[in-house]
Amino acid sequence: MEDKIYFETKPKKIEILRAIPNDAQGIQLLVTESSKGMYKLCGWSAEEIADHFNPNKIEEGATKLKKSITAFTEADILLIARDEDRRIVGCCFAEKNKDNNRIEAVYVLSEFQGTGLSDRLFYEVYKLLNPDVITILDVFSLNSKAINFYNRLGFSETGKKTFDERYSNSTGKMLEITEMILPLQKKHNNTK
Ligand SMILES: CC(C)(COP(=O)(O)OP(=O)(O)OC[C@H]1O[C@@H](n2cnc3c(N)ncnc32)[C@H](O)[C@@H]1OP(=O)(O)O)[C@@H](O)C(=O)NCCC(=O)NCCS
Repeated sequence: MEDKIYFETKPKKIEILRAIPNDAQGIQLLVTESSKGMYKLCGWSAEEIADHFNPNKIEEGATKLKKSITAFTEADILLIARDEDRRIVGCCFAEKNKDNNRIEAVYVLSEFQGTGLSDRLFYEVYKLLNPDVITILDVFSLNSKAINFYNRLGFSETGKKTFDERYSNSTGKMLEITEMILPLQKKHNNTK
């Protein structure tokens, strides 16, 4: 046997709950970690990723997020998933509007991807959204992992493609964004 062996176990219990302002730092760390894989998938170089997620920017992001959560209205729904050590391992953020629901983000740490946690987070958020309107989201066109995930949940592409300079990196490179839509769920009881 080697000097040491490593054995990985997963925590038994994950709790899903609404985020509060003091969760901002933990959410920012989660978003940073899981976004690195996302940008790699979308073709950014290691240097571009390192620059985008330098420690100052992470701190700045956490402060901004804390302010946003503090100013949340009833329309903002941000659920987090925490492991037994209270580490934030996933989150889903959505906006409930009169005319549509908008999924802003779903992030899950790589070690919890493919476990069903992403689905559960989405469905818990979805239950809190407006049931009478469509749900839309934007995703990077090259983020095949996320597109497969949203397809599996019933979303499909609307055909609308855009660029947004808020999502550019230090070289000015922008990623194409694909819009996806989840139509209204069919109502089974035919009430008028
Ligand atoms: C996008 C994201 C939330 C999707 O979550 P995910 O867990 O990776 O995706 P899935 O739920 O589709 O799971 C991946 C695979 O595990 C399978 N799976 C899901 N739940 C499972 C379960 N309970 N048991 C076994 N397999 C499961 C899925 O069927 C899928 O299999 P496939 O690849 O053969 O289709 C996640 O990848 C992520 O955080 N990525 C980085 C951030 C990001 O890109 N966010 C989106 C921004 S718009």
